[in-house]
Amino acid sequence: MNLKTYLITRQKLIDRALDRYLPRANTKPVTLHKVMRYSLIAGGKRLRPILGIAAAEACRGNIDDALPLACALECIHTYSLVHDDLPSMDNDDFRRGRPTCHKVFGDGIAVLAGDALLTVAFEIVSKAKPTLSYDISTLLREIAVAAGSQKLIAGQVADLEAEGKKVKRDQLQFIHENKTAAILRSSVRLGAMSANADARKLSAITRFGQRLGLAFQIIDDILDVTQTSEILGKSAGKDVVARKATYPAVIGLEKSRDEARRLTRQAHNALSVFSSSDAEPLHALANYLLEREY
Ligand code: IPE
Ligand code: IPE
Ligand code: MG
Ligand code: MG
Ligand code: MG
Repeated sequence: MNLKTYLITRQKLIDRALDRYLPRANTKPVTLHKVMRYSLIAGGKRLRPILGIAAAEACRGNIDDALPLACALECIHTYSLVHDDLPSMDNDDFRRGRPTCHKVFGDGIAVLAGDALLTVAFEIVSKAKPTLSYDISTLLREIAVAAGSQKLIAGQVADLEAEGKKVKRDQLQFIHENKTAAILRSSVRLGAMSANADARKLSAITRFGQRLGLAFQIIDDILDVTQTSEILGKSAGKDVVARKATYPAVIGLEKSRDEARRLTRQAHNALSVFSSSDAEPLHALANYLLEREY
């Protein structure tokens, strides 16, 4: 398969669907809807929704059924970035190749646009098609838990509390598994659910998402050290300055790379229940995430 074409066609599909799901920019309050679109529509690799769609394909589902769930996850991810960048959190000026939301529109509107992106995700899920095994309340619960106080937000809290402190390896893993891996894991789970996956396939996809999600944040930490802001589209080198708990800071760059490779291998292995053609996009995406430059 040609991964480049695969990524571009799916990004386009996702961007079009996001545009449909969000209120028009001229809907009142105009400021809010404009700001939601500023952060959501312009840029972003769309990896979570692409992974969700690929998981649906692995389970022989179709893209249309996976799309609402995929878009909901992208809204939640984007809200988490808008809030993550606020001066009271990571204090970042640059995101997705442009000034951060709060830099352009102010902190108050950025907080509210984040709130609205989080909330609209649930509205979008309510439009998804239930399957035989997964009703709408199951899908809603899946997202609520992943984005909630014991997963994504738990990770963000632990991330803030670890700033400037010496953290142990298991604390670091807790931060990364919650602030990042939980949403990636849910992305592929929801894709599988949209395809009415059986328990065996859902559990394989879950393990895949968990390993890949942890590897993803380790690579994000590595890129913060090794890459330029220009290529990342967000400010590089900020983790050392903020004394963040990162893999390179705790175990060093080389061991971090080894760990990302080991987790990616485990992610590939988790897919053994699928035929190689059904899981081809997931395998290709796992390799791409490991090798990515931004
Ligand atoms: C950045 O995620 C935040 C992390 C969880 C590491 P991405 O690297 O997927 O950011 P976008 O969506 O492409 O902007
Ligand atoms: C992001 O972690 C995790 C989120 C839930 C947003 P980072 O703080 O490392 O993400 P970047 O580097 O700012 O994108
Ligand atoms: Mg952060
Ligand atoms: Mg950050
Ligand atoms: Mg980072």
